[in-house]
Amino acid sequence: MNANVPKMVIRKQVENIIYQVVPKYLYEDVICQMQRGLKDEPLNTSVGYCDTEILEKKMSATLYEGYSIMALDTDNGEIAGVVLNGIEKKEDVETALDKFKHVENEKYQKIFKLIYEVNESLDIHSKYNLNTIFKINFICVNPKYRRRGLVKELLNRCELLAIEKGFKLMKLDCTSNFVHKVAELNAFASAKTVRYGDFTDGNGKQIYDFKMPHDSFTVMIKLLDEKASYQCALQ
Ligand SMILES: CC(C)(COP(=O)(O)OP(=O)(O)OC[C@H]1O[C@@H](n2cnc3c(N)ncnc32)[C@H](O)[C@@H]1OP(=O)(O)O)[C@@H](O)C(=O)NCCC(=O)NCCS
Repeated sequence: MNANVPKMVIRKQVENIIYQVVPKYLYEDVICQMQRGLKDEPLNTSVGYCDTEILEKKMSATLYEGYSIMALDTDNGEIAGVVLNGIEKKEDVETALDKFKHVENEKYQKIFKLIYEVNESLDIHSKYNLNTIFKINFICVNPKYRRRGLVKELLNRCELLAIEKGFKLMKLDCTSNFVHKVAELNAFASAKTVRYGDFTDGNGKQIYDFKMPHDSFTVMIKLLDEKASYQCALQ
């Protein structure tokens, strides 16, 4: 076996769970579930919960790109988990930074200033000479289905979709230590990490009221190889 071929393990499906691209008729349900689930998302929690309406618009726009993947429980039709993905063009980070200056919501500002500025400093598109990359925007597993390996499997499925669509790199803005661990197991590499505790206001007060073990934000990337899907099919 060629040692350069990335090994991607597709684990056995958990019981009655199937994975698929989110169909349009489920967009509203997915957004509802995301809104509930994101109450546990570490960066959102650390700012005291951002207005869900703003996030809802962002989620909806991402869903309409058509690259989002869901885990569905075929027994009861429940959405067990979702990963919202989109295409990120080279100019998107700069545009987002410009746009977000006009959003008055302070919590939204705190979340996305951090995320966009770290991304801007990395300039991944130029570094890898790519016009577009596959970006994982939001991850959420339904609380009822947590600790069953769903996020691992969801990331695997996202990777297969990204490869199928011809992307060369996937990126994950990782705010959760749990997802960080799983992404590392899925061969993502950390491009840059910043510690929430290092951000303070003019009075030296910490901006992010984070809870351990989620003490940092990491941009994680994975270079994709179309051979990986072949490898996957062999297993
Ligand atoms: C983070 C989240 C996506 C994890 O989904 P999940 O399907 O339950 O994750 P997994 O079952 O694959 O667990 C992955 C690993 O994370 C760690 N982990 C997950 N939940 C944990 C918990 N409550 N306590 C301690 N460790 C935990 C474990 O190391 C676990 O591996 P293990 O079960 O083999 O020990 C889910 O908890 C969630 O939706 N949280 C709210 C939204 C969020 O934080 N999104 C991520 C933003 S990057």
